[in-house]
Amino acid sequence: MKIAIYPGSFDPVTLGHLDVIERAAKMFDRLVVAVMHNGAKKPLFNSEERMGFLEKTTAHIPNVEIAGFDGLLAEYAGQCGACAIVKGLRAVSDFEYEFAMALANRKLNPQVDTVFLMTSAQYMYLSSSMIKDIAQHGGSIADFVPAAIHDDIVLRMRKDD
Ligand code: PNS
Repeated sequence: MKIAIYPGSFDPVTLGHLDVIERAAKMFDRLVVAVMHNGAKKPLFNSEERMGFLEKTTAHIPNVEIAGFDGLLAEYAGQCGACAIVKGLRAVSDFEYEFAMALANRKLNPQVDTVFLMTSAQYMYLSSSMIKDIAQHGGSIADFVPAAIHDDIVLRMRKDD
């Protein structure tokens, strides 16, 4: 059984994330999508909300499971029995940061390798921060987030106003 973990902030999940999830789910027997803490970011949505968005978004993919973990990714990957950490790469600008994390994670847990999936071209510019900014300024995010959670995100962000 080949298990992979796809970690991220997912604040919120975007069509770019969903594209990586769908492609990675075809490559592994089981894919654990893990909502984790990025020390450099302050999330807008709490982890239950982010996990709920992911549950709804991935309900059609049977070998995907959603989890939340607050500690080290390398440790959690080991706990899950994962052989791989999946990361999406959008542009060269992502590379340096992701490369350093992949090396650190392999040092912390040599059993787990990081696998990079190149973004599909139409999602190259997408990021959760950009989507939040557009929504906060009243713009439409319909082309950027999965349809299943579009209204939930918009309603939740209106509550924040
Ligand atoms: O979607 P993001 O914010 O780019 O995801 C980054 C994330 C959450 C995967 C990364 O910050 C992470 O792995 N956090 C868990 C804590 C950890 O293991 N830190 C050391 C990474 S080398």
